[in-house]
Amino acid sequence: MDAILFVCLGNICRSPAAEGVVRHLVPGLILDSAGTGSWHIGAAPYGPMQAVARRRGYDLSGLRARQVQAGDFDRFDLIVAMDGQNRADLETLRPPGNATPITLFTDYGPADGSAVPDPYFTRDFEGCLDLIETCARGLSRMYARPS
Ligand code: 4NP
Repeated sequence: MDAILFVCLGNICRSPAAEGVVRHLVPGLILDSAGTGSWHIGAAPYGPMQAVARRRGYDLSGLRARQVQAGDFDRFDLIVAMDGQNRADLETLRPPGNATPITLFTDYGPADGSAVPDPYFTRDFEGCLDLIETCARGLSRMYARPS
């Protein structure tokens, strides 16, 4: 299992940050991110999210938003949603017969977490990246290679 798609609503805050942090932790995986919504197609990650990420060593500037497509369910081995609404929306897009696992990013993080809150609305970009880093470390343990 080595191609992972991260999904949020706009694909300009949470999922590009998750993609960037996991790429930093586990080089060599095939990673991408996408949004269930279409508003920001083609846009770079949101400025405040990029700035917080850059201060922690993650360069998100080359990423561009796109919308989830039905073909993603065949191209990726695992789809990781940022919240329950994202996951429910993904289930409505799932092609018949497809069995790609859809997990929540918080499944790899704190036991009490059920969502990565949307910083576009909460404005808590630091707290969002804290949680993303925690979940990314949890996810990366599944791909740890002996050194
Ligand atoms: P994201 O945040 O899902 O973490 O990328 C959002 C960014 C923009 C909007 C919604 C969520 N929007 O509605 O424009």
